[in-house]
Amino acid sequence: MHSLANPDNLYSAMRLAAYGRGRTGWDVLPAWNPSSRELGVDDLASLEAGRPVRLGPAAARLWDGTRPETMDAWVKLGREVFFRYPLRPEPAAQLAFATRTADELGLEHDRNGRVPGLVAYRDVDGGEQLGITCALCHTAIERGEVVVGRARRTLDYGAMRLAYDRATGELNHKLAARMSSWGPGRADITEDDDQDPVSIPDLWRLRELRNLTQAATIVHDSPLALAIRQETQMLHASGERVRPPRELAWALAMYLYSLEPPEPAEQRESPALAMRGRALFALYCDSCHGDSNGSGRAVLAARIGTDPALANGRARGTGKYRPAPLVAVAKAGPYLHSGDVVSLEDLLDPLRLQPDFSRSAHGPGAIVGHEFGTDLPLQDRAAVVAWLRTL
Ligand code: HEC
Ligand code: HEC
Repeated sequence: MHSLANPDNLYSAMRLAAYGRGRTGWDVLPAWNPSSRELGVDDLASLEAGRPVRLGPAAARLWDGTRPETMDAWVKLGREVFFRYPLRPEPAAQLAFATRTADELGLEHDRNGRVPGLVAYRDVDGGEQLGITCALCHTAIERGEVVVGRARRTLDYGAMRLAYDRATGELNHKLAARMSSWGPGRADITEDDDQDPVSIPDLWRLRELRNLTQAATIVHDSPLALAIRQETQMLHASGERVRPPRELAWALAMYLYSLEPPEPAEQRESPALAMRGRALFALYCDSCHGDSNGSGRAVLAARIGTDPALANGRARGTGKYRPAPLVAVAKAGPYLHSGDVVSLEDLLDPLRLQPDFSRSAHGPGAIVGHEFGTDLPLQDRAAVVAWLRTL
């Protein structure tokens, strides 16, 4: 359990109480190998007509029970888990299709009518359900293609849940106010009552990260730290009724490690400008963003000065933020854990710190913190941005 950065937060407490306890806790939950299939174009028609999706006789169990023997086989199995292991039923998605708001809410389909992130599956109690998978938040659809690992920045998960709660009369006003404040690309996936929606991150080169999550909740000292995080997420999402077979959690971790950005970084900037930016970056940014993926050791939130709610939250807090990895950062906006900053230029622009700033992703006003580089002359800032675009 040395992978828990702060043993006192709710997340750590939950794990310490239930993980690896042998005859109690999560170890005694039955291992679940679900039958499920990804939704396709035919299902969209049913959903739009308000009919439930059917699993169909062809849907096989996710795993045939054979333990993979090669890395390729682990990665392949992990891909199945990523796209097909249902985290939980999601009736809100059904409603979104029935009311034709699915596209607006970011429930997109690719050019072949595939809907990554949604599955029809047989739930633990035997009933057929529509469920969500990792792919709902961690794939994007670009020019009709599925890009695995890119955050679904169009997904308005809060609005989707809100629409459902309204339609079914289950609206809880406190929760509704929270969900409507998230906006696309953010979700509050913590269990406390704090307001700390966080951007969905890209999943590039996870292997090189020292910590997992933006508040550095997990010390990523071995692949097991990632596998256990995923196992915990999967069994927690199921309402702690079942757990995934350990093989599936390990396979998922191996698949996540295989993810790389699909395209090389843009090289349209002038190389001379980018080279100057590189030197400035070494001077002003490297002390925190010096790892091979642009991340580094977690830093006290007070030193960064961005909204500390997530870092200090009871749920996953550690008092710190992780320097954001900078792999393919040009395409990772809006920036910071809060997803407030629309462009790299704005991140370095001192005007962002002023109360009359109008370009925040979440309404007018200053975006405080991470002032690094904002005191540089305009040309130097342009050079740093040019360098960032090559990463
Ligand atoms: C509802 C949207 C949603 C779903 C579904 C989801 N995630 Fe995430 N994921 C997030 C958000 C938001 C974060 C950011 C958490 C943070 O930094 O505190 C995140 C963080 C992560 C991280 C940490 C990345 C980092 O930079 O440290 C990993 C790994 C990850 N998710 C993998 C998965 C896997 C695997 C699944 C399926 C089992 C999954 N997620 C399902 C929204 C989602
Ligand atoms: C003292 C440590 C520190 C220094 C110095 C620093 N950063 Fe950061 N950086 C961070 C942390 C921590 C975050 C995440 C903060 C958050 O999300 O609240 C971050 C976030 C970012 C992001 C957001 C990326 C994303 O995907 O959201 C960019 C871009 C960035 N830094 C670039 C820079 C540049 C350029 C410099 C130098 C001019 C710099 N940083 C200097 C610690 C630092």
